[in-house]
Amino acid sequence: MAKRIGVLTSGGDAPGMNAAVRAVARAALQKGIEVVGIRRGYVGLLNGDFIEMNARTVSGIIQRGGTCLYTARCPEFRNIEGVKKGVEKCREMGLDGIVVIGGDGSFRGAGDLSAMGIPCIGIPGTIDNDIQCTEYTIGYDTAMNTAMEMIDKIRDTAQSHDRCSVVEVMGRKAGYIAINVGIAVGAEAVITLERDYDLDVIAANMLKTKKSGKTHFIVVVAEGVGQSENIARTLQEMTGIEARVTVLGHVQRGGSPTVRDRVMATEMGYHAVELLEQGIGNRIVGLKDGRVYDIDIQEGLAMKKPFLDARYDILNKTAF
Ligand code: ADP
Ligand code: F6P
Repeated sequence: MAKRIGVLTSGGDAPGMNAAVRAVARAALQKGIEVVGIRRGYVGLLNGDFIEMNARTVSGIIQRGGTCLYTARCPEFRNIEGVKKGVEKCREMGLDGIVVIGGDGSFRGAGDLSAMGIPCIGIPGTIDNDIQCTEYTIGYDTAMNTAMEMIDKIRDTAQSHDRCSVVEVMGRKAGYIAINVGIAVGAEAVITLERDYDLDVIAANMLKTKKSGKTHFIVVVAEGVGQSENIARTLQEMTGIEARVTVLGHVQRGGSPTVRDRVMATEMGYHAVELLEQGIGNRIVGLKDGRVYDIDIQEGLAMKKPFLDARYDILNKTAF
């Protein structure tokens, strides 16, 4: 039974992480469990950068992007000496468990800590939605809505200038953001690592639809493809339509979280505390068939996540 737990955010930040921190703190405090905020992920754990939390520490953060606990990447934690030091710090601080909000790298660290006697629960926080064992990761919805709004603005100017806008969206190696945003903005094509693409086909479609009166085009490229400039140049050469590139970048990681992110973060945070309360560790909280569940960390990390193939096909069948 946990009497005192820590919470940290690690890896890339994501809108909704604050809502998760708040839920963890409030749920634990209501159960009579003390809560310590660990700043800058595993860096703060190793440096002893802790703050005692009360219900007011997390007031007024549910609507804020970023993470009030700050985040960092901690290379030292990737080796056993780093993890051992982390365990010592937990013992010094009297922590009976930690909630780790982050991506799969952060969960590996949480698995290592759990194996060495500190029960940890992972909550998926990344805009990429690329964590295998969960249908949803905190920040995904906000990032997609931001990208959609940005591309709607880009479309205005693409339309005025009869241009093709090639827009690169985030997602590391994953194309989940690209597919959904592509559908939402009515893109003519979406290029991701998960599916083969043929610029000849995209160019031919552009020319065909230009003949039927279309004057501007949006092509969404997932960042993992890494070819946005080449794609734009090639499409311009093939079609004669002026093409410009916009890399949306970190704007997608910021901003006030959407309803979906706030609600998911709160449900997942609550579930994580329920597990630690029972002394259960080494679990990832996720979404399966639309319901919050939990799974063994190693098992969860070993899973394969299906791509949005059916959605990708619908996109292509409704794009022109
Ligand atoms: P994310 O959690 O978003 O995937 P990273 O891959 O950068 O982000 O991982 C965040 C942090 O998690 C790393 O800086 C490191 O401290 C820790 N971490 C990553 N991989 C491992 C690993 N294999 N073993 C232990 N800790 C790890
Ligand atoms: O994992 C979230 C993410 O924003 C990815 O989409 C992107 O590839 C990466 O992080 C960028 O990381 P950084 O902010 O360290 O450049």
